[in-house]
Amino acid sequence: MEKRKKVMITETILRDAHQSHAATRMYTNEMIPVLEQLDDIGYYSLEAWGGATFDTCLRFLNEDPWMRLRTFKKILKKTPIQMLLRGQNLLGYRHYADDVVDKFIAKSIENGVSVIRVFDALNDVRNLESSMRAIKKYGGICEAAIAYTTSPVHTTEYFIKLAKELEQMGADNIAIKDMANLLLPYTVFDLVTKLKKALKPTTKIHLHTHNTAGTGDMVNLKAIEAGVDIVDCALSPLANGTSQPATEPLVATLAGTQYDTGIEIAKLMPIVEHFKKIAERLRENGHLSHKVLQVDINTLLYQIPGGMLSNLIAQLKQQNRLHQLDEVLLEVPNVRKDCGYPPLVTPTSQIVGTQAVFNIIMGERYKMVTKEFKNMLKGEYGTLPVMPTQEILEKCIPNQERIFERPADSLEPEYEKLKNEIQEYIQQEEDVLSYAMFGAVAINFFKWRMASQFTINEEL
Ligand code: CO
Repeated sequence: MEKRKKVMITETILRDAHQSHAATRMYTNEMIPVLEQLDDIGYYSLEAWGGATFDTCLRFLNEDPWMRLRTFKKILKKTPIQMLLRGQNLLGYRHYADDVVDKFIAKSIENGVSVIRVFDALNDVRNLESSMRAIKKYGGICEAAIAYTTSPVHTTEYFIKLAKELEQMGADNIAIKDMANLLLPYTVFDLVTKLKKALKPTTKIHLHTHNTAGTGDMVNLKAIEAGVDIVDCALSPLANGTSQPATEPLVATLAGTQYDTGIEIAKLMPIVEHFKKIAERLRENGHLSHKVLQVDINTLLYQIPGGMLSNLIAQLKQQNRLHQLDEVLLEVPNVRKDCGYPPLVTPTSQIVGTQAVFNIIMGERYKMVTKEFKNMLKGEYGTLPVMPTQEILEKCIPNQERIFERPADSLEPEYEKLKNEIQEYIQQEEDVLSYAMFGAVAINFFKWRMASQFTINEEL
């Protein structure tokens, strides 16, 4: 018998699963009834915060994301809370000054987050420096992610070099973030085998994939055979399709083998029953479309992550152009090549996706170029994996200077200024950070909070 290697699972039902399937619309009240049971399963961590949850709490759910986090922390006694963070973008859509990055991470950890998965859409490590430094400073587990993609430059060697660099910068874990389910089973076997050799034995490798193309379970299994330490799964009511592969079948598959997760499948069942009802509610409210559940091998051609596909559908619906979805999907890889093969993940997925929509509905490529696309070409998001061609640069940003330094180097400290702007609304220091992330959306939430005479002391 081979040496036993317990495989650990991160459960994503509280974050990525409903983000990928249902526009992140699950309420805290729908999570609370099963938190104790989830805490008792023996997961490596519960991914429960960050990503799009913060935005939707404020924008659509009239919830304070910080209060959600504190509620989780109060109930979850054993299982670490994990969050997803976009490096220097934090949870917003622009680069923040280093003082805001530091404060945001300090408050995230203080309010209950233990594991922070941090990534940069372009894999520009300069955009991870200040967040990784802060995670270590405030005692969090620093999980640095490589944003996985395929292109002529994104070879296995490229990713190994990147992972080693992240390890040297202080990463405790290295995540392989396969947001679009582009990894194939034998590719991940090769990648994990080589990463295991290249990294320190104490550095854990954590795989995050989706089941968009229907290969997710096989990807997880081959990664496990290659020695991966942790994989992400979602309980079945919100699993598969654009979400993670389901938890229960993997637990069953590994039970009794040298990779046994130690999770009792019977303990999962009452939680599964609970989330079936929540999934039904999300379906009734129109947030869960059957489209996200279909196996779509086209993602391997278009490289569209789950959240991006639902965004494209929403954008086209708004313009009454849903019939042009296929054309837009075909345009995405062209736009991606033109701007130097960025991995497609927030915010690059939105930038490339929106530009592809414009190219199709205007009937001419780059007739209309979004501000964000221009900024990305200029280098404002960081170094692109490949330099865009002169032709594209001249067409989209004629006569404009490109930027080569670390994007945040040009930003003055901004925390105090942001704080002064919203003095009248502040009930907790965290409000400044909500405002930093989502400006007017946060103000609207603060106004609602005042009008409803709801204060942060009324915690669950
Ligand atoms: Co994901």
